[in-house]
Amino acid sequence: MELSAYMHEKRIIIENTLKDIFVSFVSTPGVLRDAMEYMVFSNGKRIRPILTIAAYEAKGKSGDEVLPIACAIEMIHTYSLIHDDLPSIDNDDIRRGRPTCHKVFGDAVAILAGDALLTEAFRILADSRFTYRTNPRLLKQSIFEIASAAGADGMVGGQVVDVLYDGKEGSKNILHYIHMHKTTALIRASVRVGAIMAGAKTRELKHFTKYGECIGLAFQIMDDILDAEGDEELVGKKLKKDTGKQTYIKHYGIAASKIKLEQLIEEAVKSIDFLGENSNILKEIAQFIGNRSM
Ligand code: IPE
Ligand code: IPE
Ligand code: MG
Ligand code: MG
Ligand code: MG
Repeated sequence: MELSAYMHEKRIIIENTLKDIFVSFVSTPGVLRDAMEYMVFSNGKRIRPILTIAAYEAKGKSGDEVLPIACAIEMIHTYSLIHDDLPSIDNDDIRRGRPTCHKVFGDAVAILAGDALLTEAFRILADSRFTYRTNPRLLKQSIFEIASAAGADGMVGGQVVDVLYDGKEGSKNILHYIHMHKTTALIRASVRVGAIMAGAKTRELKHFTKYGECIGLAFQIMDDILDAEGDEELVGKKLKKDTGKQTYIKHYGIAASKIKLEQLIEEAVKSIDFLGENSNILKEIAQFIGNRSM
């Protein structure tokens, strides 16, 4: 199947599962629900949940077992975007082609909508109405993966260093820490969780990890490149906003950043050769990350 058709199909399945998840909110205050829905059902690429499903399928598995887990990851990602856009973090007005959550609902509700999405993601993982099909041991391992990737030693740690070094000289080491944590950690976990749920062995998991690490870093390098020279309409964010930030462009320049990006995609592709034909979709997703304009 062609990648664009694959991604389209998975996006619909993911969005339907997210809708089922929203049905399980029974007494949520209207404005909180509206703020959560506003961001969750906007025009996201859904690359993290797609990676979870694709890694699961690459191990020869099929079925709905990983869907709630993939959606929990997307809920955590969505919370991170709401908080990232707040005036006290990146102060952004446009996200996914429309006003950011706090612009529409105010800072207080946006902060709380983010809090709710993060918390509810873990409720979904523990809610047997959603995860009754999953092997409890593998599910527990996945919850550990996701929490570690999103938390203080993962995405949040990266976000803090990103904010602390805004407007500062910084260094390549600091940049590496930021990119490996704020973005790579959750992308790597998305891949690993798909493989874990499919029963990947330790040796196989090492290759999935390498793949996730390469595409995760590549994803943020491309995010930096798009900020510098992307098309605002396609990207759906205000661009040229990273002038004070630690970016690949600042520390390596645009040409070297593009070379690094290409090398990472090549490395990602090589690391999953062991899957044979089953690696095709993951390889195409890696190429997509290396070429994306949105
Ligand atoms: C944006 O993530 C934040 C980063 C980690 C770079 P995406 O580019 O995946 O955003 P959406 O979900 O498609 O809007
Ligand atoms: C954000 O990085 C990473 C997150 C964890 C949200 P950026 O601040 O570069 O992401 P964008 O460019 O706003 O999407
Ligand atoms: Mg940021
Ligand atoms: Mg930002
Ligand atoms: Mg960015």
